[in-house]
Amino acid sequence: MATTTLPGGTYPLADDLTVTRMGYGAMQLAGPGVFGPPADRDGAIAVLRAVVEMGITHIDTSDFYGPHVTNQIIKEALHPYPADLHLVTKIGGKRDAQGGWPHARSREELIEAVHDNLTNLGLEQLDVVNLRLGGFDAPEPGSIADKVEVMAELQQQGLVKHVGLSTVNAEQIAEAQRILPIVTVQNFYNIANRQDDALIDSLAAQGISYAPYFPLGGFSPLQSSTLSDVATRLEATPMAVALAWLLQRSPNMLLIPGTSSVAHLRDNVAGASLELPADVVAELDAIGA
Ligand SMILES: NC(=O)c1ccc[n+]([C@@H]2O[C@H](COP(=O)([O-])OP(=O)(O)OC[C@H]3O[C@@H](n4cnc5c(N)ncnc54)[C@H](OP(=O)(O)O)[C@@H]3O)[C@@H](O)[C@H]2O)c1
Repeated sequence: MATTTLPGGTYPLADDLTVTRMGYGAMQLAGPGVFGPPADRDGAIAVLRAVVEMGITHIDTSDFYGPHVTNQIIKEALHPYPADLHLVTKIGGKRDAQGGWPHARSREELIEAVHDNLTNLGLEQLDVVNLRLGGFDAPEPGSIADKVEVMAELQQQGLVKHVGLSTVNAEQIAEAQRILPIVTVQNFYNIANRQDDALIDSLAAQGISYAPYFPLGGFSPLQSSTLSDVATRLEATPMAVALAWLLQRSPNMLLIPGTSSVAHLRDNVAGASLELPADVVAELDAIGA
């Protein structure tokens, strides 16, 4: 792919698929509580078009955002997709009438979810599908082999090109790798929530990307006096410092901050380019220690 001026450069998710490390998470584009349509659909479309105009080639999504709404907006905004744009979706959940997030991990539900993603995104093959397991923000131990076998079937049918995992532990990743190649892992991680430090290093050694969700704290924005102090000293925002710290944390780290605002999108891309000196990194490291 072409070179990028985006912070962090690019990372090969697979031999045939490279993305900008600066990506975009589309979850914030649905209505309140990630449920129903957004108040400002044109605004959501403008954010997605700005993502592509800025040269970002990695959009993270799911058909259970809305549900269906976010994918339909992505299709409306960007289809036919630029050749270098990669949509990474996830399956394993659904929405109930109250906006809850029940699991949807049976064989039938996983297959249906892949077909829903294909339809709503307007694709014949999904570049990367993350199998979402675990609880809200932490893995749940136990075998995942039966679900990974379904992913292997969908891959053999040509509906899914590459498979990733979300909210999983190291044992589950190793179990899945005995069935098929895993190209990415998406767990809860940010400057203040560092439970995956060892996992990130081991994935980096294997050349596997790690795309943390809630990089800015998600529904509970990051709050840390150290983060705020560093941001003030560097004349940056805490968000910028948090994103720059992630990019510098490991070469396999991909950023998918979510926003419904073009201004925040631009702030996040600019913020991630902040160079953090080693002594500042050491100070920030203490936040999640
Ligand atoms: N695998 C999973 O289970 C899972 C779970 C959750 C999320 N995800 C993925 O991860 C992506 C990122 O997570 P997330 O969107 O939940 O959380 P996040 O990126 O940590 O934070 C998003 C929140 O930060 C705000 N924000 C973003 N940039 C900002 C800025 N420059 N200044 C001030 N506020 C800013 C957003 O509000 P505004 O809209 O006002 O900017 C939004 O409220 C999602 O979009 C989704 O694709 C995956």
